[in-house]
Amino acid sequence: MRILIVGNGGREHALLWKLRRDAPTAMFYATRPNPGMEPLAEAVDLAPTDVEGLATWADGNDITLTVVGPEVPLARGIGDAFRRRGLPLFGPSSSASRIESSKAFAKDLMRRVEVPTAEYRTFTRWPEAEAFISEKGGPLVVKASGLAAGKGAFVCPSTEEALEAAREMLTEAAFGEAGSEIVVEEFMEGEELSVFAITDGRHAVLLLPSQDYKRIGEGDTGPNTGGMGAYAPVPLVRPGLMDEVRDTVFLPILDGMESAATPFRGLLYAGLMLTPEGTRVVEFNCRFGDPEAQVVIPMMESSLLGLMVTVARGGSIADGECRWSEGAALNTVLASEGYPGEYETGRRLSIPAELEHRDDLLLFHAGTQRDDGRLVTAGGRVLSVVGLGDTLEEARTRSLEGARAVEFEGKVFREDIGRRALRTLENLEA
Ligand code: AMP
Ligand code: GLY
Repeated sequence: MRILIVGNGGREHALLWKLRRDAPTAMFYATRPNPGMEPLAEAVDLAPTDVEGLATWADGNDITLTVVGPEVPLARGIGDAFRRRGLPLFGPSSSASRIESSKAFAKDLMRRVEVPTAEYRTFTRWPEAEAFISEKGGPLVVKASGLAAGKGAFVCPSTEEALEAAREMLTEAAFGEAGSEIVVEEFMEGEELSVFAITDGRHAVLLLPSQDYKRIGEGDTGPNTGGMGAYAPVPLVRPGLMDEVRDTVFLPILDGMESAATPFRGLLYAGLMLTPEGTRVVEFNCRFGDPEAQVVIPMMESSLLGLMVTVARGGSIADGECRWSEGAALNTVLASEGYPGEYETGRRLSIPAELEHRDDLLLFHAGTQRDDGRLVTAGGRVLSVVGLGDTLEEARTRSLEGARAVEFEGKVFREDIGRRALRTLENLEA
């Protein structure tokens, strides 16, 4: 097999790592691989978003499977470009990826197929938004409808904050085109859960549930980021919940998309909130979550490749299954000081040799780069430090040891990833 990975962040590093284990003799290629991916794949010097260029390249290089990590190439139609050439690709079409690239589309779909979610209204004009927000009053959540790298959602405790967020998006183009339409929704309270499903358009194989820590600061404070850490599995998931989520969230959505002639094939991600009134959807994404993929994928014992190949070739995964490791995985993300705002890059990165090539610790690169042969920082989220263990506590200890041992100027990370979950476990055991 000849496999192309599109994307070059932590999630794609984890995908490459796993697919190589599933197919040790395959040839791997990756778009502008980061230094962590470099030893594992041949570099293809095309941007992940160069949809037509990549389709032409894959066609000319006999690529048998293409796996797309990020949402932007999907929204720009990489799935359609490959399928037009008869090239198997794991990822939805551009119209199906609207489930992520248009929050307004996703909310309308949920309403139509009766999937529980927060009450909402969409707006493109400030006067209407202003009138609605003033009448409703905070707390409210204001979101750019389009793609905003996880940074376009504002949880606003007060009416004034909600008005400010909406005004900046609609009158000052704070998020450019992505914020030209906004969703204003009811504030929900509860624990969040990320659930991924591999789907052929009709059937859904659910992966291990995980939890993402979205805020920059300890104790869930400060602005939202792309994600500062994650762990899997999640102890607060009671028996039966995942079946319920498949039947009441994934299957109705897949049905609704198929009947709208935009079947979803690929990885569908449901961001859920476990509220006192039941499970509700916060958002859908059309690809693996980052940093959750870095904990879910290493826990997978059965082949990921097998499922991806079947889906990419248009087959059925009605009988698809996954086997999981017994223990737990926990990812602490190392970020650059200032992220999710402005930050410096080009800082020397030092990874102690004893952290490499271990069974209980995985380092997935994201914002790293080589400069004159030296490893330097090159992004807001720099590295995922994933601890593996028989228990969540063990996984957490290893991840934190690794996070402390890696050095670069301005390193920022959260020490509390998974801490709440450990409390839940203590309560369950008590
Ligand atoms: P989203 O971009 O829709 O995933 O939102 C990003 C984050 O904002 C979510 O993971 C939640 O932490 C928070 N959030 C979004 N919508 C709501 C809501 N309706 N109520 C409470 N928190 C929310
Ligand atoms: N971790 C959230 C996301 O990937 O959208």
